[in-house]
Amino acid sequence: MKKYKILLVISIIAIGLMSALIASINEKKVEQAQLKEVPKIDRWETKNEEFKKHYPRQFDSWKETKHSDEIEDMLKKHPELVVLWAGYGFAKDYNAPRGHFYAIEDNRNTLRTGAPVDEKTGPMPTACWTCKSPDVPRIMDKEGDMEYFTGKWSKYGSDIINPIGCVDCHNPKTMELQVNREYLNTGLKAAGKKPLEDATQQDMRSMVCAQCHVEYYFKKTPLADGKKAAVVTLPWGEGTSVESMEKYYDNLEFKDWTHKISKAPMLKAQHPGWEMWETGAHGRNNVSCADCHMPYTQEGGIKYTDHNIGNPLENMDKSCMNCHRTSEKSLLDNINKKRERKDNLHQKAMTAIANAHLEAGKAWEIGATKEEMAPILKDIRHAQWRWDYAVASHPAFFHAPEETLKILGTSIEKAGNARIKLAKVLAKYGASDYVAPEIKDKKQAQEIIGLPFEKLVEDKKKFQKGLMQEWKKEAEKKGLYNPESTKNLEDKTSYN
Ligand code: HEC
Ligand code: HEC
Ligand code: HEC
Ligand code: HEC
Repeated sequence: MKKYKILLVISIIAIGLMSALIASINEKKVEQAQLKEVPKIDRWETKNEEFKKHYPRQFDSWKETKHSDEIEDMLKKHPELVVLWAGYGFAKDYNAPRGHFYAIEDNRNTLRTGAPVDEKTGPMPTACWTCKSPDVPRIMDKEGDMEYFTGKWSKYGSDIINPIGCVDCHNPKTMELQVNREYLNTGLKAAGKKPLEDATQQDMRSMVCAQCHVEYYFKKTPLADGKKAAVVTLPWGEGTSVESMEKYYDNLEFKDWTHKISKAPMLKAQHPGWEMWETGAHGRNNVSCADCHMPYTQEGGIKYTDHNIGNPLENMDKSCMNCHRTSEKSLLDNINKKRERKDNLHQKAMTAIANAHLEAGKAWEIGATKEEMAPILKDIRHAQWRWDYAVASHPAFFHAPEETLKILGTSIEKAGNARIKLAKVLAKYGASDYVAPEIKDKKQAQEIIGLPFEKLVEDKKKFQKGLMQEWKKEAEKKGLYNPESTKNLEDKTSYN
């Protein structure tokens, strides 16, 4: 009797398992059929919500980027930055990156983009929207790249409204990966690299990211109608290493701004993440950005790409352990050592360059000549470019550890050269005992450089209550914006 009971139980379990399996196979079949039959979505549909019903898993995981919402005020963390960027927007406000979901909010809220009052006021050009939204390639397609690159960013306040999403990386007609920003291919060709026409599927898994995570500058370009465009251009004509880009900028005598204290012609590194990755162990083996940041995931027997692009160390089992055989712990120990080495040189470089700026300021004050200062300013320009390059390409200490330390090493060397020359100039003018003021915190540093922080915040708040609200209403009227998409969104900033 007992035997039969056991048999019965086993059969019931087996039947249960079988039906679950069949159900899962059926579900998979339905899903696969849906995937094969690509739904008809307009080529330039930029509202990410429109993709939800067709691709629920990709959409839901994409929306998870919303969870990376902490504001990390880098000026508070490293007040030397305020001195390094004196006279430039970054001294006003600079936070660590957050999830893609916040790209639009953060661009509107940062003090760097100022407080426009109409569609003609800046201070920033349209180009500063370029890596924030799928509405950018939509406008480029409709109006042409050159029209897109003219005017101030406020020109498109009610047109660029959806954060980095599906149409940034896909063609919605086929859902294939697609790069929608022409300047990337122009850059690859200028560098003599494989152009997008020849890119493999594996290459594309990094190329979609390289649309934005690269070094670029705004090239002033005169147009036939007398207008001037500020065109996003990758400075790759001499190659994609830090030295080649430095040479490219030097040859053009290009500067992003003149430093307020030292008067050095400065460069601001953007985020050469792709270029740094290329030099590291993973890049050299063509382990793509998506391999770590968008690993395959399993859900009820269905395999899909996790679109929650964030920190891969949060799910190492999926992002690392299918290639690596050591334990998670030993990988993490290894990474933390890399971080410590970088932090150490990073701090030394920052301190040395900040001192060099302040000492140069003193030298001007007591009568140093242009001829005496020229070689010093060149050293400062190169030192800061290299330091910035190594740390703005977040987090290069992991993507390319040796290259990061090499670049920081040469940055410290160049800052040291500047300061040796400065010591001589200061001595010549009787100020050999000059000691640059110690930088204590963000507020004090902003006072040293004469930055009207309170006024900036006040103006920004006026903009947020006024014009910014009008932008949202207009965008909704134009059918570009679904207010549901940002419902309950808390506006986080560094200055509230
Ligand atoms: C930053 C770039 C990026 C964004 C933004 C993005 N995707 Fe993807 N998507 C990828 C990559 C990379 C793959 C993997 C492609 C491959 O290797 O075949 C992928 C794959 C897919 C696939 C194929 C099935 C799968 O899961 O592998 C679908 C469907 C898809 N994405 C839908 C979406 C939708 C819907 C959105 C917007 C909510 C979106 N994607 C946003 C990069 C992106
Ligand atoms: C259209 C431009 C664009 C594309 C394409 C893009 N990114 Fe980003 N990415 C950004 C911007 C802008 C931010 C910062 C957003 C913010 O702080 O508001 C960012 C932030 C990030 C972050 C930080 C996220 C966090 O939670 O801190 C990671 C990681 C990242 N991107 C990786 C990638 C990878 C990998 C790809 C390709 C699969 C990619 N990005 C494609 C523009 C882009
Ligand atoms: C081998 C895996 C791997 C590859 C390949 C990879 N990354 Fe990362 N990435 C990481 C890890 C791990 C981190 C987090 C490190 C840390 O703890 O700061 C990270 C962090 C980032 C960040 C976040 C920076 C921040 O401060 O929040 C960005 C942006 C980023 N990666 C972009 C890229 C891009 C673009 C590519 C391709 C060109 C790429 N990554 C390739 C593993 C990878
Ligand atoms: C698609 C496979 C693949 C994935 C995914 C991958 N790696 Fe790697 N990793 C490699 C290869 C290949 C190398 C180079 C090995 C060599 O040079 O012999 C490497 C090298 C490394 C190294 C040593 C190289 C150095 O830069 O010091 C570390 C550390 C590392 N990986 C960590 C990680 C972490 C952490 C992740 C997940 C975030 C990860 N890897 C994901 C394939 C991968």
